[in-house]
Formats: sequence, C-alpha cells, structure tokens
Amino acid sequence: MNVHDSEKVIGTLRERGYLQKATAEEAGLVLYNTCSIRDKAEQKVFNKLQNFKKGAAKSGQVFGVLGCVAQQEGEKIFDRAPHVSLVVGSASYTKFPELLVQIEQGERRVTGLSLDVDEAFDTPYTRRDNPYRAFVTIIEGCDKACSYCVVPFTRGPERSRTADSVIDEVRRLADLGYSEITLLGQNVNSYRDPSPKGWDFATCLERVGQVKGIRRVRFTTSHPRDFTKAIVEAIDATPTLCNHIHLPVQSGSDRVLTGMQRLYTREQYLERIGWMKAAKRPMTITTDIIVGFPGETDEDIDDTLGLLDEVQFDAIFNFKYSQRPNTPALGMGDHIPEEEKGRRHMKVQERQRMIQIQNNANYVGDTYEVHVEFFNLATGQWVGKTTQHKTVNFSHPSGQAANLLGQYVDVLVMRAGPVSLVGEAA
Ligand code: 5AD
Ligand code: SF4
Repeated sequence: MNVHDSEKVIGTLRERGYLQKATAEEAGLVLYNTCSIRDKAEQKVFNKLQNFKKGAAKSGQVFGVLGCVAQQEGEKIFDRAPHVSLVVGSASYTKFPELLVQIEQGERRVTGLSLDVDEAFDTPYTRRDNPYRAFVTIIEGCDKACSYCVVPFTRGPERSRTADSVIDEVRRLADLGYSEITLLGQNVNSYRDPSPKGWDFATCLERVGQVKGIRRVRFTTSHPRDFTKAIVEAIDATPTLCNHIHLPVQSGSDRVLTGMQRLYTREQYLERIGWMKAAKRPMTITTDIIVGFPGETDEDIDDTLGLLDEVQFDAIFNFKYSQRPNTPALGMGDHIPEEEKGRRHMKVQERQRMIQIQNNANYVGDTYEVHVEFFNLATGQWVGKTTQHKTVNFSHPSGQAANLLGQYVDVLVMRAGPVSLVGEAA
C-alpha cells in the first residue's frame, strides 16, 4: 500500500511538471514516504532525515516526510528535523496538490495531518513502475480497532472509492497493456461502493475480473470478520480471479484473539478456511501471524502451531509483536521479553517451513501458467508467479533472449523448495 501511495504522489508531481531524479542528491525536492506498522520506525526516519541535512544546508533542497510516521509524529518532525518543510499523512494525500503549491510559494512548515477525510485519494496521474501488474486502491483507512495496530490512527477511517472510478481505472490500465491487477485496501472486504450502485466487495471483485484484457486479479488484505462466502463464489465463477487468498489470522488462540480485539474466534476463522478449501479450483491460503502479544503463553503458541498444522498455509508472514504508540495493547502489561519473542518466532517459522516443503512438493510434475516478472542474471532463470501466487524460477531454451517479461508462459515444475518452485518452459 505504501509503494502504491508513492506511485500516486509521483504521478501527481509529474502532472505538475516535476521530473523524477535517480538519487536524492540530484533532486530539488526530496519526499520520504514512511511506514510505522512495526519496529522502531520513528527512529529510523529521524536517522535518515539526519542524512538529508547536508543537502538542505548546501543547495537549499526541500524535504518532506509522508506516510504513517508523518501522521504519527506530526509537527514534532519540524522540531527534531528543522530542515524538513512538509509533513503529510497518507489520509491527506487528497490535499497534496494544494500543499505543493504552498511549498512552491516558499512556505517552510506545511502540514497535511487531518484524519477527517471522507474521500479516497482518487488520482488519474498514478505513475506505475511495473508495466504489467498494477495496484488499484478500492478502499483506504480502517474502521477496525485491533489492539496492537497503529493503522486506524495513521490512515484514518474507511473511505471506499466509487465503483465507476475503480472500473474506469482498471479499463484504462487494460488499454495500456496491464493484465494483472491487485485491488488494495487495509480491509478490502468492507468495501462498499458509495454511489447508488452500492456494490459490495464480492461484486466489485467479479466486475474487475470481467474487464476485457485483464487476465489476473488479486486483492489484499482481508479481515476474517468481513470475509464472506460470496468472495469464494466470485472466484469460482470468474476464471480471471486468482485462486489465492491472504487472510490474516494473527493467532490460533481464542484468548489472544480476544486480547487483540480481532472480532472472530478460531472456529469462525476455520469456517472461512473451509469455504476456501471447498472452492472449485484449488486455492492457496496465506496468513499473517503475530507472536509475543502481551500475555501470550506457551499454550497460546501451541494453539497457533496447531492452527498451522490444521490449515496447511502456503506461506505466512510471521511478526514479533511490537509496541505501537497510542494502541490499547500498550497498557495491557505482561509484555514478553524480546528473546522469548525470538524463540516463539523461530518455532513458528520452523513448523511452517516443514508445511511449505510438503505443500510445494505437490506441484512437482505438473504444468502451471506463470506471469513472468524478471530475468535473474545470477541464476540464468526467468522468475514469475502462478495464479496461486507461487514463485517459479524457470529456464527457457533461449535464455534471456526469449524476452518473456510480462508474458504468460506454461512451465513444467521439476523441483520444489520451501519458498519457490523450479521448472522449465513447457
Ligand atoms: N506488531 C507486530 N505486527 C504487527 N502487525 C500490525 N501491527 C503489528 C504490531 N504492532 C502485523 C499484522 C498485520 C500485518 C500487516 O502487520 O500481522 O496483519
Ligand atoms: Fe490494523 Fe486490524 Fe485494521 Fe488490519 S484490520 S489495519 S490489523 S486495525
């Protein structure tokens, strides 16, 4: 989502006649987009800003901080890094063109920090780097209140784009030669078209998948509470919708899920997994796990390990709990020592690695359509993804000269590892 935010901001700047430079040193305006979901994000940002300081003194460069750290730290950034002139949170990108005018007029403490927005940032000027796969935002912000999460404070309340503007953007992208679309939102499942059409997420997904020229549609991210059976039915009915779902569970323990304010039980989560496993095309399922949430016990971790065994996820993103400013979990006490979080993280990684080795072995001997992303010079192989979002490294008789970028190639899978497959162009 942050990458795509940058694409939108770059598009807006280019529309106003700005040119993109390869390095910060060459630029007159340097914008630093930030994420504060985990770790000591604030500290990293201030360290980086310190590096920029010389440029400001020497050549009068203008610096701006964008994104979640900008939202979180606000005007404090001007005090700690006085060479910064612009601080804009991601909920205020709708105002970005006006803020830019103020900077151009020489103002040196310009902020966009209001969370009181009711529109999504709908720009026709997005500047995308990848010519085949495109992100399309359908909903911004989050109305959930997971007790560990900073997002509701940094990205503000949910705002859905109109279905017409989503479909128009996808059509424009298809005309430009894009064939793969990823619909984006903190919680795409709660998408609701604000126009009288009133499409829900499943309808939006299906309609995007019907746009001429689009061959693959993905979406991220989903919240189990709002995940409906209609989404799986839409995937069943629409061949362009990829058979991969990322459904963050966070923990396999009901006790921890309650503390996290996730609004579902393990059983309800597993019910949704059951819908996916009953889908017509075999579906890959991935998830996010947090270990070391305040008060988490060995028994809770065992519940999480048990859930991994039960679901047999294709991949997980496994994070150590990190305290975030303003979040309710901060006050929950009983914080787990870093070392113990590390042990739990390893336990989960090890269990999942075994599951992935077994899972991926099932792909050997079959042929899959791969959307090619790049050529790996080090291995001499092309690299791309199947509809299930499996990474495939494959050789081609003509090697790099085959020029397969952006193409869909049938690949026979010969070998499988825990994180990727290896094959040959069929
Ligand atoms: N600590 C650790 N992981 C977090 N995530 C969100 N907030 C935190 C936090 N405070 C993880 C969740 C979420 C993913 C995007 O980041 O697993 O699904
Ligand atoms: Fe954060 Fe929860 Fe919203 Fe996801 S659903 S962005 S974890 S508050």
